[in-house]
Amino acid sequence: MKEHKLGIIMNGVTGRMGTNQHLIRSICAIRDQGGIKVSPGEVITVDPILTGRSEDKLKSLADRAGVARWTTDLNEALSDSKNSIFFDASSTLHRARFVEKAARAGKAIYCEKPTAVTTAEALRLAQVCEDAGVKNGVVQDKLWLPGIRKLRALIEAGYFGEILSVRGEFGYWVFTGHDEDQPAQRPSWNYRKEDGGGIMIDMLCHWRYLVDNVFGPIKSISCRAATHLAERVDEQGNSYRCTADDSCYATMELKNGILCQFNSSWTVRVRRDDLFVMLVDGTKGSAVVGLRECRTQSLEETPRPVWNPDVSQPIDFYAGWKPNAEEEEYENAFKVQWELFLRHVALDEPFPYDLRSGARGVELAEAGLNSCLERKWIDL
Ligand SMILES: NC(=O)c1ccc[n+]([C@@H]2O[C@H](COP(=O)([O-])OP(=O)(O)OC[C@H]3O[C@@H](n4cnc5c(N)ncnc54)[C@H](O)[C@@H]3O)[C@@H](O)[C@H]2O)c1
Repeated sequence: MKEHKLGIIMNGVTGRMGTNQHLIRSICAIRDQGGIKVSPGEVITVDPILTGRSEDKLKSLADRAGVARWTTDLNEALSDSKNSIFFDASSTLHRARFVEKAARAGKAIYCEKPTAVTTAEALRLAQVCEDAGVKNGVVQDKLWLPGIRKLRALIEAGYFGEILSVRGEFGYWVFTGHDEDQPAQRPSWNYRKEDGGGIMIDMLCHWRYLVDNVFGPIKSISCRAATHLAERVDEQGNSYRCTADDSCYATMELKNGILCQFNSSWTVRVRRDDLFVMLVDGTKGSAVVGLRECRTQSLEETPRPVWNPDVSQPIDFYAGWKPNAEEEEYENAFKVQWELFLRHVALDEPFPYDLRSGARGVELAEAGLNSCLERKWIDL
């Protein structure tokens, strides 16, 4: 059996995303399934090493995940030639120095989004990787969500006819920390601009690759961001001023004419199918797409409502939608992308989700910010 054994430095994985999605649901899952079987005689296996600042946190996570290797000495991990990949899930503003160091050490780079908070810095990081000649990639997980995969299959089959518009609604209530027994469920840096926080930089990165890949390239954006809640409580129990936006109301025009409206908010309460739902309307049919589900309504199934506030609504609008491809099984979206990246590193298979494509996400976020500040449409 030919084995490609990849040593993977996993930096900043004691955080929310790193622990659950990347270490446990992706790398440990790949390890536990015996690696990625490429052919009957060839396999890619993973050998992670956890790096970070706190010995206690690293040791306890390593024990929990059954990972043998961890260290607080990143340089030592980088100098070990068995480690061919460097992955970073630390908070955004730390990304650049870690990525630069690892690229210069000749490691393939894979990291969380956003890669930076300005387009110039995101492009510079892409260039650093390209100059170092290292393979590189950015997490674009939403592309492999079951709901989105079902949607893409419908688009490819021509289900919608001409797609007219897309309405995306993302968000949920993130507690401020002021309410009894309700600690904040997101890290406090998310609400401080000076620490790389803000929902625009966080979510517009996702909407860029999602819209570009699924519906078509974005031409321009009009955006209004807001900081609805001015004060929150941090991990130490101290109140702090929120300097970053917690909500963002964006309209995007695509080169093919489709109009997309995406609301993203940490200050909304959910009365919809999921934490992220898109309504896609086309001439021949529509779909409501969540993280896992995709429900459709064709032109023939479209109800004919009458506006009459004097009687209770006689139509159950929710009932007129059919689940789609319910029987399909899908792997965790982060794991699917990890497997593609590992195949890219070991087998040289294509991987278009590189740092340069990640920089386009930052470009949209920056354009959104400028649109908001200048109160005008910004072309990309
Ligand atoms: N793909 C997605 O859907 C998604 C979702 C949420 C967050 N993210 C991104 O993932 C990244 C992490 O977000 P999170 O919510 O897990 O944050 P988090 O605050 O929970 O985790 C950050 C991690 O980085 C570590 N860290 C911070 N400074 C460090 C340093 N100097 N050296 C080493 N480690 C350091 C922290 O100890 C922690 O382990 C962010 O860039 C964020 O934008 C992506």
